[in-house]
Amino acid sequence: MDITDVILRQHDEQRRMFAMLEEWPRDDREGLAAVWKRLEILLEVHAEAEERYFYPELLRLGTGGADAESVDEEVEDAVKDHNKIRDAVRRVADAETGSDEWWTAVVDANVHNSDHMGEEERQDLADFRQRASLELRHEIAVQFLRYEAQRWAEGITPRDKDPEDYVEGEKTDEPSEVAQQAARDAEEAATTGPVSSEPSLKASEDADED
Ligand SMILES: [Fe+2]
Ligand SMILES: [Fe+2]
Repeated sequence: MDITDVILRQHDEQRRMFAMLEEWPRDDREGLAAVWKRLEILLEVHAEAEERYFYPELLRLGTGGADAESVDEEVEDAVKDHNKIRDAVRRVADAETGSDEWWTAVVDANVHNSDHMGEEERQDLADFRQRASLELRHEIAVQFLRYEAQRWAEGITPRDKDPEDYVEGEKTDEPSEVAQQAARDAEEAATTGPVSSEPSLKASEDADED
């Protein structure tokens, strides 16, 4: 697994769900509410997981990708964008499903999210691919997906963060726990072969018969 690939795929799912809403029958308010609820959870859990697992590592290793001035600016921008998305999502929740106010907030969420994903892909993911080992990208993907899997059903209570405080709080030259684990995995793989001591899983004999 690779965190940069996991994030890209989830962006694709977000784009597809906004597109789905655009052509959903406007009078099916129950359906609109259900589709939006799923997208809301996807947006909020995704942003929080990035802030917990991806951006701290990018701050340690990044140098500012593409048109970003620096990694600090890259990350501050991302947190600022996440706050804008969270704000639009809250406005959707406060409006009556299917009303003009509701659609305006949905479109605002789409605009903020599209702008953000473009920048995140062009700067942050590209920067990380160039700077982080495959082992680290794998380790972060596992943590990220674990956090999300535990929250997909219910969602989370979104929390805005001050972008400068976030960067200041997370910025350190010390390797994180996950980076140290990735380094051990890489070393072990280089000297002894497979990273995991667990055997590959096998199908049952019944499944095998098909
Ligand atoms: Fe993202
Ligand atoms: Fe993001």
